[in-house]
Amino acid sequence: MLKIAPSILSASLVNLDKEITEVDKAGAEYIHIDIMDGHYVPNITFGPNIVREIRPLTNKTLDVHLMISPVFNFINEFIEAGADIISFHPEADKNPIGVIDLIKSLNCKVGIAMHPKISIEYVSNFLSFVDIVVVMGVNPGFGGQKFLENQLEKISLLKKIKDNQKLNFEIEIDGGINKQTAKKCKEKGADVLVAGSYIYGSSFVNYRKLIDSLR
Ligand code: DX5
Ligand code: ZN
Repeated sequence: MLKIAPSILSASLVNLDKEITEVDKAGAEYIHIDIMDGHYVPNITFGPNIVREIRPLTNKTLDVHLMISPVFNFINEFIEAGADIISFHPEADKNPIGVIDLIKSLNCKVGIAMHPKISIEYVSNFLSFVDIVVVMGVNPGFGGQKFLENQLEKISLLKKIKDNQKLNFEIEIDGGINKQTAKKCKEKGADVLVAGSYIYGSSFVNYRKLIDSLR
């Protein structure tokens, strides 16, 4: 079954406790946490503290998406704080293999996140080492943007590589997910869908119905 990862970027931060426990109860598999540094992306969000605060609220997988540059020096702290998966953008660090090795050596799952301008060729050397590949459906930095349809082909290509080479990574799509785009991503082979504004920005606050509608 398709996994759903609500992104707290669009949650009400003063009600974060409730925002997390409600999506947990509603069946979300992952909680997606977007870390932005105002350097790799033109926006700033949270540091490792947010992961530390969320950790005791849920047993669900904490899926940390680092949009920071450089990456290496922050890994330890995010894992200590309680991250279960750390995804990062390989072009944001001078030694992406070193980052992958570090994350794995600390018994955390590792993901490669693909900026829309990054090609499959660019990430192909990493695919056999990672647990998850994040295909961005929008330019990273903000919630609530329109899905870039030209990224759909990357999902099919990744799915093909994964099947042909018998690799184990999950394919996660992040950005612009709603009922319509979820269907297209699912058809192409997505395993996990991140949804921020679709879940937390909705005035219709039945998280279970919203999550189920994406599956
Ligand atoms: C964008 C973030 C996304 C964001 C998605 O840079 O990586 O995780 O929260 O938001 P929506 O679902 O609103 O596009
Ligand atoms: Zn994200």
